[in-house]
Amino acid sequence: MTQEQEDASIHIAPNGPYLVMGDIPITNSDDRVLHPPSFYRLCRCGGSSTKPFCDGTHMHNGFDGTETADHGSVAGRRAEYRGEGITILDDRSICAHAGICTNNLAAAFKLGAEPWIDPSGAEAEAIKAIIDRCLSGALAYAKSGAQTQAGGENDAITLLKEGPIQVEGSVALSSSDDSPYTIPVRCTLCRCGGSGNKPFCDGSHWGNDFTDS
Ligand code: FES
Repeated sequence: MTQEQEDASIHIAPNGPYLVMGDIPITNSDDRVLHPPSFYRLCRCGGSSTKPFCDGTHMHNGFDGTETADHGSVAGRRAEYRGEGITILDDRSICAHAGICTNNLAAAFKLGAEPWIDPSGAEAEAIKAIIDRCLSGALAYAKSGAQTQAGGENDAITLLKEGPIQVEGSVALSSSDDSPYTIPVRCTLCRCGGSGNKPFCDGSHWGNDFTDS
């Protein structure tokens, strides 16, 4: 990890873009890797004509970037589901509702059921493999008492196709009032402008015709 990456950070501008500092490469939704300068602005309102970068449209399109997400600790937000050989940890507040878990392992992740997680519904290794694919970082697991999530070795920004900005690594995230967010090894940030849990994605892009093209 370079010194620049150690200092990598994202600050949220009031009713404006994400201000990204540090040498963080961007993987575009078409898998191209972009190497922008060490400071750049990523569109948060969904309206830029130069996505993923901000072009100032937020100043004219009525964008309300008010942040409503929880600033508490990740551990404090997580619910625990203890099963045989694995404990599933779930932070509902940052889920992007991509459906990786419910679409691919319904025996353990039950859409519409309460409780919706059954940690004994599938083999621990199968659950672990699905959690490692969780885009938003909402899901994690504990084995032998240690909380675990795959990834996060390198700072990275990935633009998910027609969806949010995925941030991985140890990138510091701070609010427009300078207060920090505590985030797991990855999170997904809204870039359609419609989330009800800004700055995090809540899946609103599915319903508001957001396009990243
Ligand atoms: S946040 Fe500036 S154009 Fe979208």
